[in-house]
Amino acid sequence: MRLWGGRFGKDPEELAQEFTRSLPFDGRLAEHDIAGSIAHVRMLGHCGVLRTDEARQLETGLERVRAALAAGEIEFDPASEDVHTEIERLLAKEVGPLAGKLHTARSRNDQVALDMRLFLREEIDGICEGVAALQETLVSQAEKHLETAMPGYTHMQHAQPVSLAHHLMAYFWMFQRDRERLLEGRKRVNLCPLGAVALGGTSFPIDPSFVAEQLGFDGLCPNSMDAVSDRDFLLEFLGTASLAMVHLSQLCGEIVLWSSAEFRFLRLDDAWCTGSSIMPQKRNPDAAELTRGKAGRVFGRLMGLLATLKALPLTYNKDLQEDKEAVFDVVDTLGLCLSVCREMLRTATFAAERMSSALSEGFPTATEVADYLVRKGMPFRQAHAVTGQIVQYCEKQGGGFEELTLEEWRSFSPEFDEDIVKIISPAGAMRAKMSPGGTAPARVKEQIEQARKLLAPAAPP
Ligand code: ARG
Repeated sequence: MRLWGGRFGKDPEELAQEFTRSLPFDGRLAEHDIAGSIAHVRMLGHCGVLRTDEARQLETGLERVRAALAAGEIEFDPASEDVHTEIERLLAKEVGPLAGKLHTARSRNDQVALDMRLFLREEIDGICEGVAALQETLVSQAEKHLETAMPGYTHMQHAQPVSLAHHLMAYFWMFQRDRERLLEGRKRVNLCPLGAVALGGTSFPIDPSFVAEQLGFDGLCPNSMDAVSDRDFLLEFLGTASLAMVHLSQLCGEIVLWSSAEFRFLRLDDAWCTGSSIMPQKRNPDAAELTRGKAGRVFGRLMGLLATLKALPLTYNKDLQEDKEAVFDVVDTLGLCLSVCREMLRTATFAAERMSSALSEGFPTATEVADYLVRKGMPFRQAHAVTGQIVQYCEKQGGGFEELTLEEWRSFSPEFDEDIVKIISPAGAMRAKMSPGGTAPARVKEQIEQARKLLAPAAPP
């Protein structure tokens, strides 16, 4: 069965059919295609374009196809060109030639735009749940480590002591923005293109608002030509997904680093490690590496679709069919990576002692020493220089700040007193950072409270 053919003298070449056919991948849209068709026939009945009994019969037929599909009783005919053709063929098996009336005042151009919008809307909701679940895991791990001090890094060099909770919560906020971006983009997905028909609308007295309401859309696409050409809602999703993959790859990159022998900040559960075929001792963080790697695949899908859409003339062009595999792949990849990261993180153990012993190197409290002098009235620039000299001195001696005697401190500045000992304690330095958004446990606790509110089921992100 073909939805066209009247004007042709012969069948298309087998290779041409195979090349243009989308059923192998767009079959995934079947459920949405049926939902769209049911709303469409109801509208045609409501507007008097079809007789009420015809509309009802078509709807019942579509419902039967939907049920059979859900029950797994249907095998698609591989000869069908696309999902739209296939659903119409299955409908014809239920209701006979009446199925031919389904496509009144509709084109596959507005139909496929509708299907993709229905599909993506649902997937965005699922992905948002996946992001929220990962955020929940980050918060739960953070709650256990409010007091766990570790080196915070800049340039991968010890910078200042921070809490592990603070470090983990940094990721919470990245994923919060991802969730916000997804829902922001969802507004532009949730507009109904049906009624645009091929490109210019129709002379039938249709009511697109009726369809939009049935399908839970927030409104209509205002221009029929834009409605069938627009795929920027897909690009926007791929862009948002790419950003989420940037964040996942950063998290996973740190998991890989932290599980190395050099760091040993984190131990993945055995269930999330893989071994080597030759080196019996190996515990490789494969899932973290693979998530990091899959970021490239998602960016590639974004670049691919950008290139496909660039300079396309209005309106529908077959090029647009390339949107499907890109979006399906990204939906699947991102969803999987979110679940994997969540489980990997939930079952991981952080080595608090190892983290705090790492703080004995690299002078992570040097800023605190400089600030100490500033509190005594020294300009910060001078305090910075003095502290730098102390660091240089310690390095020559081969020790840390803890090894200095009061006399040694005072040889750099008479402002130093006994209380300098407290200042150079990494855990103390972490606790003292009480500025808003800072790493002091009291502040991180506030972040966590805010985060918990954002994760509460009723709360908007
Ligand atoms: N498989 C097509 C796609 O994904 C459906 C739309 C076909 N429309 C057309 N005018 N050939 O874009």
